[in-house]
Amino acid sequence: MNVLIIGGTGLISTGIVQALRERGATITVFNRSQTDDRIGPGIRRLSGDRKDFPAFENTMTAAAPWDVVIDMICFRPDEAESDLRAFAGRCGQFIFCSTVCTYGNTQTVVPTLETTSQAPHSRYGRDKLACEQLFLRAHANQKMAVTIIRPSHTYGPGGGIINNLNTDATFLERLRRGRPIVVSGDGHGLWQSAYSDDVGRGFAYAAANPRCLGQAYNAVADEVVTWDQYVQRTAAALGAPAPWLVHLPTDFLLAVAPQRYAGLAEIFRFHGVYSNAKLKRDVPEFRLTTPYEEGVRRTAAWMDQHGRSPAPEENALEDRLVAAWDKFTAESVKAFVSKS
Ligand SMILES: NC(=O)c1ccc[n+]([C@@H]2O[C@H](COP(=O)([O-])OP(=O)(O)OC[C@H]3O[C@@H](n4cnc5c(N)ncnc54)[C@H](OP(=O)(O)O)[C@@H]3O)[C@@H](O)[C@H]2O)c1
Repeated sequence: MNVLIIGGTGLISTGIVQALRERGATITVFNRSQTDDRIGPGIRRLSGDRKDFPAFENTMTAAAPWDVVIDMICFRPDEAESDLRAFAGRCGQFIFCSTVCTYGNTQTVVPTLETTSQAPHSRYGRDKLACEQLFLRAHANQKMAVTIIRPSHTYGPGGGIINNLNTDATFLERLRRGRPIVVSGDGHGLWQSAYSDDVGRGFAYAAANPRCLGQAYNAVADEVVTWDQYVQRTAAALGAPAPWLVHLPTDFLLAVAPQRYAGLAEIFRFHGVYSNAKLKRDVPEFRLTTPYEEGVRRTAAWMDQHGRSPAPEENALEDRLVAAWDKFTAESVKAFVSKS
């Protein structure tokens, strides 16, 4: 099996390469040779920028044909159109890495199935959905056999550990130092986080799998946790003290720092619970084998080694918010009780 990965050295891509290697595939990666590389020897490398469409398409058509092409970094319809020019008629299967953000997060189907209607509210989700539609149209018109895979939150070495508010890298050190951890709402929002190598295995075994042609799949974890549990388990995995959880209203956080908490507005304030049953049915090799705590330990070790877990500033925004909220609620409760 001759497989091209566009990307190939990133977070999920690295797990795909590992699993394809297990399958004995001949692997080529295309990227700009900028990202720190963890994929090891025996991989053919093509270098270039996928945003330079003419050069990208020339490189791809010269190197074709491929049994399978996996595009990990297509985000916009113009990139999808470039893929169609490069690969239609030149690959046996095209796998597009999409996202669960194509559903939009306000639907109330829990867990969200692949048949749930898609109504994305973020630019990211809308663009990914437009790409999906272009690819599925090409599949329906028999121009290119397509598979869509929609990861939800995926973490691992090469990436980071998010928190409920954003992707602030100081989260690990805040936990280790026992600093307050702000969680929006009442901490009962639901969340799934999958380990990168496990998700990568789903992509690798969907490759050259006839059941997957023309299909879309969620590639998500089995476990569903509340955000409070997420923080508590992350702290336990790090050997950090039991976390000092502080619940603040989402609207308050967004009023104070809308830019900083853009991820909260678009994603983290909503339940994120998706079914992986369809992918497990069609790709039985897709199994979530990495316990969350083990995945956190591996990711934290990588972040520490690479200087990606900086210390929080003294009196950082979250500390000031907690202090302000404590003062406000204490005074409000006192005033209310004295009047009633
Ligand atoms: N992680 C999550 O929580 C999550 C959730 C849902 C969906 N996803 C989807 O997962 C995908 C990301 O997968 P990933 O984690 O494997 O990728 P990644 O970590 O974002 O890695 C990016 C890869 O693409 C290469 N690259 C970046 N820009 C490029 C360009 N302009 N031209 C050529 N190569 C380029 C990088 O190498 P160079 O830097 O060397 O070029 C690297 O190999 C995205 O499609 C995203 O929407 C992720």
